[in-house]
Amino acid sequence: MKQIRIEGNHTLQGTISISGAKNSAVALVPASLLSDEEVTIDNVPNISDIDALNDILKYLGAKVTKKDNTMIIDSRPIKNKEIPKEISSKLRASYYFMSALLGKYKKVEMYFPGGCSIGARPIDQTLKGFRALGAKIIEKDNKFTITAKVLKGANISLDMPSVGATINTMLAAVKAKGVTVIENAAKEPEIVNVATFLNNMGAKIRGAGTSKITITGVEKLGKGFTEVIPDRIEAGTYIILGALVGKKLKIDNIITKHVEMLISKLEEMGVDMEVNDDYIIINATKDMKPVKIKTLGYPGFPTDLQQPVTALLTQCCGESQLEETIYENRFKNIPYLNTMGASITINNNNKIVVEGNTQLHGSKVEATDLRAGACLVLAALKADGETIITNVEYILRGYENIVEKLTNVGAKIYIEEIK
Ligand code: EPU
Repeated sequence: MKQIRIEGNHTLQGTISISGAKNSAVALVPASLLSDEEVTIDNVPNISDIDALNDILKYLGAKVTKKDNTMIIDSRPIKNKEIPKEISSKLRASYYFMSALLGKYKKVEMYFPGGCSIGARPIDQTLKGFRALGAKIIEKDNKFTITAKVLKGANISLDMPSVGATINTMLAAVKAKGVTVIENAAKEPEIVNVATFLNNMGAKIRGAGTSKITITGVEKLGKGFTEVIPDRIEAGTYIILGALVGKKLKIDNIITKHVEMLISKLEEMGVDMEVNDDYIIINATKDMKPVKIKTLGYPGFPTDLQQPVTALLTQCCGESQLEETIYENRFKNIPYLNTMGASITINNNNKIVVEGNTQLHGSKVEATDLRAGACLVLAALKADGETIITNVEYILRGYENIVEKLTNVGAKIYIEEIK
């Protein structure tokens, strides 16, 4: 078990370079199994979610070479098509193996995927996609046995634009016979990253990044190369940090277009920043205006930045309102922020009212999930005194070298082993 100790209220100056996107990488790695040759993925973040996927690849029998941020995956030696409960339940993204194995071998057995406990997170839309393609699904005691004699292209209209269901349907359909159309697809940049990778291997996917994706099945996928796009959520987290305690803090190696909605909210707040295509320089700003935020699928305000931005709302001049529309249980950070001196009320489970101008104080708090943990790191860096954050394994799932990156810009942050 590890904890993070932060001595707050220091000004942060220098450059933070953004890593490859967790939510792209965790789909690209399973997608590589669809190839019949070796594939290379560059800019893979060193985070524990990737380690967990690596364990699954090895369990299945794939040959994996990982050096720094590059992964070379050869799936030809794969023998297993069954993923045990312990490793399925480590992370949500394990279910991308469901579709990749189904798409390639027409058979997979695995358990309900794990992930941060931020809501029910059903997988009905993914299963709907598989069924439409002709797969047979037997579900018993949380175990899914999915088989198909042949997968056939189909028209699938998702009930909601789910990122997971969009990627899973794409992975299952690339080698299906005929044409698959996904309507009401999610439009997140990570989906475009996955589609581009598959096309690089020889797939025929059009329309990724829009709400209608068309996939013309191919028989074989060959060698492939891709680079993981910059992590827009990591970028957003550090941009928010700049608005809290930055002095010319440069957030580098980003695709600014992917964080447009956050930037527009910060502009509304009056945050002092210089916005460029691939970097942003940001200064802590006094007298920020309160705002109203509602989370939505891309290009709306991302739910994954909802918790980090709450730390900033505690410093605005007046009352801000935030509505979470994607998950039912993503306010577990609020009691801890209140312990630190914030004044936040939760209404009807999906809305919060944040009183501004509150002084945050160091406290002992717990990371209950990945982005709740990120929120507490931001609050602790702003607070006076010392904060101890426990359960930081959640944070390490998604933020590469967070302690080193923050130390380099002047933060007093330490990670410690506890018994
Ligand atoms: N949903 C269903 N049925 C489904 C699929 C989704 O009802 O079959 C619902 C979910 O319960 C949720 C909503 O639809 O209310 C959106 O879920 P989505 O499928 O889009 O999310 P996901 O694929 O499970 C990914 C990211 C999340 C991120 C969401 C939304 C990965 C591994 N996870 O999850 O990332 O919040 O998209 O952008 O890519 C995080 O990084 O902290 C994180 C939770």
